[in-house]
Amino acid sequence: MSTTAAETSRPREITLRFLAEPGDVNFGGKVHGGAVMKWIDQAGYACAVGWSGYYCVTVYVGGIRFYKPIFIGQVVDVKASVVHTGSSSMHIAVEVSATDPRTGARKLTTRCLIVFVAVDGGGDSVGVPAWVPQTDEDKRLEQYAMHMAQLRKEEDNELLSLPTPANR
Ligand SMILES: CC(C)(COP(=O)(O)OP(=O)(O)OC[C@H]1O[C@@H](n2cnc3c(N)ncnc32)[C@H](O)[C@@H]1OP(=O)(O)O)[C@@H](O)C(=O)NCCC(=O)NCCS
Repeated sequence: MSTTAAETSRPREITLRFLAEPGDVNFGGKVHGGAVMKWIDQAGYACAVGWSGYYCVTVYVGGIRFYKPIFIGQVVDVKASVVHTGSSSMHIAVEVSATDPRTGARKLTTRCLIVFVAVDGGGDSVGVPAWVPQTDEDKRLEQYAMHMAQLRKEEDNELLSLPTPANR
């Protein structure tokens, strides 16, 4: 049975902060999109484990938008927050921002929604504490996560109705 956030006092969000390094560069001289996606997965994972207290696996990554490039030498913040929970799933919003350390100018570079499932030692899904939205912003983010989940279901149903090699 799930417990509530009030019963656990688990951290709802986490921010990873580090420098964009020369090894993260792409052919255009900016940070590689794949590096950003790896950071998103890492921050989401740490957030999901912190919230659930279990090892967690990624089941979905979506809604990713790259708004601005990140340059080598900028300070990167990857903030991951639980925005919705199901029985075993945690829907986590991740925001990436980059700051020029010389000027302090900061820009939002990437946003994404990622879903993790808490699993036990045998790899089976386990219950997670329920996230209860507190503020209007929390409620808006939860609505967004639930809307995305509904769209995924509709998309899955459409895929299932497509002809397969077996029935074509
Ligand atoms: C995670 C896993 C154990 C769940 O298996 P399961 O218990 O049979 O799956 P269920 O259908 O009961 O789904 C469990 C939860 O995941 C959610 N889920 C499963 N697939 C999902 C998807 N593609 N997108 C979003 N949510 C998904 C379900 O909605 C459910 O949420 P809820 O518990 O809050 O209702 C299994 O899907 C798995 O091992 N997947 C591979 C994970 C992986 O290898 N990730 C990459 C490396 S980390």
